[in-house]
Amino acid sequence: MKNSYHSGSLVDTLSCSKCGRIYDFSVLQSFATCCEKPLIFSYQLEKGISKEILKTEQQSIWKYASLLPILNTNNIVSLNEGLTPISKIEKLGAIADLENLYLKDETGNPTGSFKARGLSVAVSKLKELGITKCIIPTAGNAGGALAAYCAKADIEATIIMPRHTPKVFKDECEIYGAQLILVDGLINDCGNKAKELNKDGAYFDMSTLKEPYRLEGKKIMGYEIAEYFNGDLPEYIFYPAGGGTGLIGIWKAFKEMMQMGWIKNKLPKMIAVQSSSCAPIQEAFKDPIHWKEHFNPQTSIANGLAVPYPFGMDLMLAVIRESNGQICTIQEDKIKENVLLFSKKEGILISPEGAATFMALKKLKENGVVGKDDRVLLLNTGSGYKYIENII
Ligand SMILES: Cc1ncc(COP(=O)(O)O)c(C=O)c1O
Ligand SMILES: [Zn+2]
Repeated sequence: MKNSYHSGSLVDTLSCSKCGRIYDFSVLQSFATCCEKPLIFSYQLEKGISKEILKTEQQSIWKYASLLPILNTNNIVSLNEGLTPISKIEKLGAIADLENLYLKDETGNPTGSFKARGLSVAVSKLKELGITKCIIPTAGNAGGALAAYCAKADIEATIIMPRHTPKVFKDECEIYGAQLILVDGLINDCGNKAKELNKDGAYFDMSTLKEPYRLEGKKIMGYEIAEYFNGDLPEYIFYPAGGGTGLIGIWKAFKEMMQMGWIKNKLPKMIAVQSSSCAPIQEAFKDPIHWKEHFNPQTSIANGLAVPYPFGMDLMLAVIRESNGQICTIQEDKIKENVLLFSKKEGILISPEGAATFMALKKLKENGVVGKDDRVLLLNTGSGYKYIENII
């Protein structure tokens, strides 16, 4: 196993995403305390780095190990995550009146969601640095993924989840041997509970973007997308945004590939999809100063979208601005029928978050933003099987 991984991560620096202050990546880091913002890894990338660095037997995100921050490949904790398929979905394309509609389907990941990617990298880093206990507030999928990777790595995981989350999300955490704590409220309430339990700092806090490692795993989606489209990326990518790691990660990957000369054409417009039940990015975009005063977040059938106060808000807004993208809020009470539409037309039991991206596409197609000839990629970030009790 160990010899088939790349050696030699190209990691260069870890720095504050706001002011650029450098942090030591050889020790465990959380967020940039200078500005209370996420920390971001950068790599020694220059034009002309050959795609040969991807040559490996690994059939997982670890194919891209040189572009990830694990320093000793013996520490990699993998359950064969990533390298998920992209395919054309012609029937739904016809419904949306689009010639070229693609779906990247994250269903096949360990524990059934794209969260596996980030947690593989983060748990590998915990192993690399000898950390034995961690804690995570989660809307559902990240908790299950953390539990599975921690089981493999012999690390104790404590998972804090909203009580209303469907049963399978809770059960899987316990099945993988994690400690599960339920909280009345949304993920931000779970975050407060995690803080309270971690007053003495006994656990490593894995909250979204309060550590820099999960983002790196998520970014590999961007590399896989570019590989599928041979560097000629689609005009639009629709992404269901909660904490934002996928949106920020995919964009980060595109920029890294631009630096290496792997992408030549224009970058896609990134569309962040939110639910009308909880659309903080939309609110913050409209009213950056006062949005929290009138914000009233509710639960969503798409659990992963019910993230009222994302720590990575500025980074998400930057992706939307830089890519000339936009935020698209869809109607909560229509998500379920779109999950069913997907199942009945394409034979894929998509997550409600994934269904939300199709709803957003229809909306932007109808109001003329997306054209019939535009190539559009939707992200189905997880399997719908865990949500069945809320779908049927
Ligand atoms: C299926 C699914 N889609 C999307 C999201 C939102 O992810 P992100 O934090 O990358 O915005 C989540 C988060 O829980 C999720 O579980
Ligand atoms: Zn700073």
